[in-house]
Amino acid sequence: MVRVGVIGTGDVARKSYLPGLHDPESGIILQAVCDIAKERAEKAAKDFGAQAVYNDPKLMLEREELDFVFVLTPLLTHASLTRQVLEAGRHCYSEKPLTLSLKEADELAEIAERNKVLLLCAPIYPLLPIVQFIRQLIVNNALGKVAFVRAHSSHGGPDRGTFYTDPSSYFLSEKSGPYVPLYDMGVYALTFLTFVLGSVKRVFAMAGTAISERRIEKVVEQGFIPYTIKVTTKDNGFLLLDFGDGCFGCVDASFCMRYNRVPSYEFYGSHGSLTFDSWQNEIWLVSDVEGYKHPEGWHKVELPKEIQEGERELWGQRRPTMGQRVVEHFRQCLQTGKQSPIHVSRARHVIEVMEKALMSLETLQVQKLESELPK
Ligand SMILES: NC(=O)c1ccc[n+]([C@@H]2O[C@H](COP(=O)([O-])OP(=O)(O)OC[C@H]3O[C@@H](n4cnc5c(N)ncnc54)[C@H](O)[C@@H]3O)[C@@H](O)[C@H]2O)c1
Repeated sequence: MVRVGVIGTGDVARKSYLPGLHDPESGIILQAVCDIAKERAEKAAKDFGAQAVYNDPKLMLEREELDFVFVLTPLLTHASLTRQVLEAGRHCYSEKPLTLSLKEADELAEIAERNKVLLLCAPIYPLLPIVQFIRQLIVNNALGKVAFVRAHSSHGGPDRGTFYTDPSSYFLSEKSGPYVPLYDMGVYALTFLTFVLGSVKRVFAMAGTAISERRIEKVVEQGFIPYTIKVTTKDNGFLLLDFGDGCFGCVDASFCMRYNRVPSYEFYGSHGSLTFDSWQNEIWLVSDVEGYKHPEGWHKVELPKEIQEGERELWGQRRPTMGQRVVEHFRQCLQTGKQSPIHVSRARHVIEVMEKALMSLETLQVQKLESELPK
């Protein structure tokens, strides 16, 4: 039996983690939910079946027997809450980004190790069968030597679409940091690319504020009144990456890409190219390599059945939800003792790429990375 606690019951908790999480038949008990906005926690408990409700994480950690705690709060709060969870000797999963600095990520990793608990970190890309499939194609040399990658890790900004709570904090540097689209969206591409290609050696970034006012229009929570805010974070930018051995990448991380019709990921190799549309779950490939050649050249890759099914289940209200997937993964980690691909040892490298990208914005100079991913 896994007894789960959730800190933060806002938009992502309601959309992606809480649905179906309380499932005693499959051995998952949603023991407690906690939010500083207590009415939100109470509503989440009612909607998703939590046994207890708190508005103070410290109290929840003191009083409840929890095996695994999700930290699903806003960007700049993850580090301190995760620290509390780990100090309380509980296994933990943090939404992204865990921290803004490598030093802080290392401190958290050290506490987890000392207390013999697991620290898992979003994004969960490395757990997804389709991402593992792409990695395998590249490891198997289906493209020859990969020389260039491009990733779109952007959208039009969280002022669009319907959020449960007010998403204005994503535009405010004081609430979410100096270049929010990097931690909010860029982190996906950086996790994906480093999982597939390995460590980044050097990074350079450019960023600025392109759209200085945003209108927050639609929020589901009752009592919301639309309003306009002044943007104080950089809402637009990109990173240039050096993976070493002549392999380079370009990642955009922006809230200013309202519409686009190109694939999310493009890999260019000496003997082939691959594109991946992460919204449609579509892979296109062209290759001269024996075993991957196709009479039509560019072709849509027929995904093995288990991958199609695994991916179809991921989104929306289908099962497993992200919460169920993470708990199931946690259970497997404990059973097998195997290192998780979303273990903090992976996240810390991506955190350093983002930290050094911010340094490069300040210094206007390319920054070298110190950390390396575990082999
Ligand atoms: N919303 C999305 O679509 C989405 C998608 C993927 C990842 N994320 C990530 O999920 C995290 C949360 O985002 P969100 O959109 O759900 O935000 P949100 O503002 O909707 O929800 C966060 C909740 O945390 C609560 N909270 C804040 N500080 C707290 C504290 N100290 N203790 C307890 N509760 C606290 C808030 O009251 C709020 O209810 C962010 O890191 C974000 O990057 C969000």
